[in-house]
Amino acid sequence: MDFAEAFTSATAKLSLMLPFKFTQKACVFETGDSMYTVMWETNLKANGYVTYTYNSKQYTVYDQVCGNIRTHETIHSVRIPKEHLDNNTYRFHSQFVGMKYGYDAIKGKTLSSSLVYFKGYHNQDEINVYTLSDIHGNLAEALDSIKNIDVPADIIVLNGDISSTIVFKKDFTKKILGYAYELSNGEIPVVYTRGNHETRGEYASCVAQNFRINGTGMYFTFNYGPLWAAVLDSGEDKPDDHKEYNGLVDFETYLREQTDWLSSLSSDIGKGSDFRLAFSHMPDIDDRHGSNWAKELERLGVQALFSGHTHTLDLRSKFNEEYPFYTVIEGGRNGKLGYVASVATLCKNKSMCVKAYNASGKLEEEYYEL
Ligand SMILES: [Fe+2]
Repeated sequence: MDFAEAFTSATAKLSLMLPFKFTQKACVFETGDSMYTVMWETNLKANGYVTYTYNSKQYTVYDQVCGNIRTHETIHSVRIPKEHLDNNTYRFHSQFVGMKYGYDAIKGKTLSSSLVYFKGYHNQDEINVYTLSDIHGNLAEALDSIKNIDVPADIIVLNGDISSTIVFKKDFTKKILGYAYELSNGEIPVVYTRGNHETRGEYASCVAQNFRINGTGMYFTFNYGPLWAAVLDSGEDKPDDHKEYNGLVDFETYLREQTDWLSSLSSDIGKGSDFRLAFSHMPDIDDRHGSNWAKELERLGVQALFSGHTHTLDLRSKFNEEYPFYTVIEGGRNGKLGYVASVATLCKNKSMCVKAYNASGKLEEEYYEL
């Protein structure tokens, strides 16, 4: 055994003694293109893969980029076709990889999760979409309100400002990935809509890469049975030259790219769906740095937009009132009411009912003809 081999073998043995563990369990995110992104975190660098059986065939799907299994990260993201995961079971795994050299690698323990049952669309009569915005790092307060909702969630929408900043990686892993898991147990899909506060801080520019959305932006469309939805990233709430941003943002370019993407969507994209919704953290979408997204949502036949940002409950908001879709401001942290959580129930007769709750119980209920 030469020195290099002895070193590799000794380091591999050493790695087996490290307290290697999952620090955030896997969560299943809607990320467009008929794919989910399964994401979790380990405390040390590792690889990541998901195993499941679909149509009697066993699958192992890796966190890989251009054929290389990623080993330099602690966040692991695996893209899986939705039809493979819906109403199926999966496990997620990571093996510690201390270093991947040109011709060798130092590898250690492998962690495997227990079997998780994932509930996708299952022809249910009603679809319950929990919409939660502006948690601002206080999950306990939000959970006090959510516990009063009397229907189980089919989809969780984290509609922005879940964390107040994304300065460090842990702001993302604890407050977005972690809260998403606490709310979903990895058993139902989660939709994450970026809030303006989540554009702030050093790690904010690294968040998008974890979701593996096709393209570069935090915006996409997805289907869930009879529901079609557009998920928008409304960016920052002030001009790029505002002193708070220290000359370190370029939302004008990013939002213009998003406008181009919205305009490129065919008017038929949601046509066959009974429900056409949109989610945007900020509700004032008729002027996103000069772009009118409300006009685009009208063209796409959107029936209701769900937003937060204002920290108010306004189920029949006047935002975008000249457009033929409802704008629902679903609550978030509210001075008087505490945290307000909402659930939108989509019914087979193509109507929608939104109920809002705080820690004391139900606050308001609104019925919408779609
Ligand atoms: Fe906000």
